[in-house]
Amino acid sequence: MSETPLDALKSLIDSRLDQILAQRAGLPAPLLAAMRYSALAPGKRLRPALVLLAADAVAAKLHLKSPAADPMPAACALEMVHVYSLVHDDLPAMDDDDMRRGQPTCHVKYGEALGILAGDALLTMAFETLGQYYPGPLGGLCCMELARAAGPAGMVGGQVADLAAEGRIADVDAPITLEDLESLHRRKTGQLIVAGLRLGAMIGSGEGTSTSTLNCLRDLTVFGESLGLAFQIIDDLLDVSGSAEKTGKRVGKDAARGKLTYPGLLGLAESRQRADRLSSEAIASLETWGEAARPLITVATALLRREK
Ligand code: IPE
Ligand code: IPE
Ligand code: MG
Ligand code: MG
Ligand code: MG
Repeated sequence: MSETPLDALKSLIDSRLDQILAQRAGLPAPLLAAMRYSALAPGKRLRPALVLLAADAVAAKLHLKSPAADPMPAACALEMVHVYSLVHDDLPAMDDDDMRRGQPTCHVKYGEALGILAGDALLTMAFETLGQYYPGPLGGLCCMELARAAGPAGMVGGQVADLAAEGRIADVDAPITLEDLESLHRRKTGQLIVAGLRLGAMIGSGEGTSTSTLNCLRDLTVFGESLGLAFQIIDDLLDVSGSAEKTGKRVGKDAARGKLTYPGLLGLAESRQRADRLSSEAIASLETWGEAARPLITVATALLRREK
């Protein structure tokens, strides 16, 4: 990927995450080591960057000098939830992966029990972080937003459908159609991406109920839903035609496990076309934002060409 706003934000996000995950009283050393091992490993930091970029975009759209509050703690909280989802996704009971972000997965390095607990700790610390940095109604709104996206109607529900397609969860109808697959991807991956944009919008404006903020939230939700689906289609494509060296994770695993994926259902060319179309739809949803949306649009365009 050529230079994008993501590259510029990555090191800022990394150093704040490092600070938030510093040793403090009451944290067992091996647990913290496992949390830091996974969270500080080289990820793309897409979701936290979306929080920061959406906060700036909304502040610009509403003609504020700067975002109403600092979006960085919420960006880190979202990354913590994302990392928890990856650590659990890699567990033997789920995708059973041994490589992530170019290093052994958390449970391979620290054992299954600490893998589970490091995920639990990252998830709960994310909400502690939101409560700590955003007191009052804004904090409540942020917690609701992140919980809804991560929970049973969002990421966790999508993961259930993903494993049901492999026949690994009893008493759930296995998803089989394109419609099922789209719903699965929108939940397991799309929702956290949408949440990043919505968190950024609420922090940028300082609230979530005025007409002007609701209009921003509406446009960013449409943008995020299309971008999130395109993002997971490309993840599926990279599992087929990407490399472990570039992605930092094993490839060729989805078909081997019998997962329901876009290339599996539609083939490579049509999946690629869909990702392109969704990305154009995402960009079109911010058409009226002008310059304020430029960095978000640059990121959406760059993600289409990603190799990791
Ligand atoms: C991987 O997410 C899991 C998916 C939802 C596709 P990313 O591709 O954003 O992974 P990192 O954060 O860069 O490691
Ligand atoms: C992961 O989907 C979605 C999550 C909620 C973590 P995948 O299982 O396809 O993600 P990777 O390919 O392991 O990163
Ligand atoms: Mg998975
Ligand atoms: Mg996986
Ligand atoms: Mg994948």
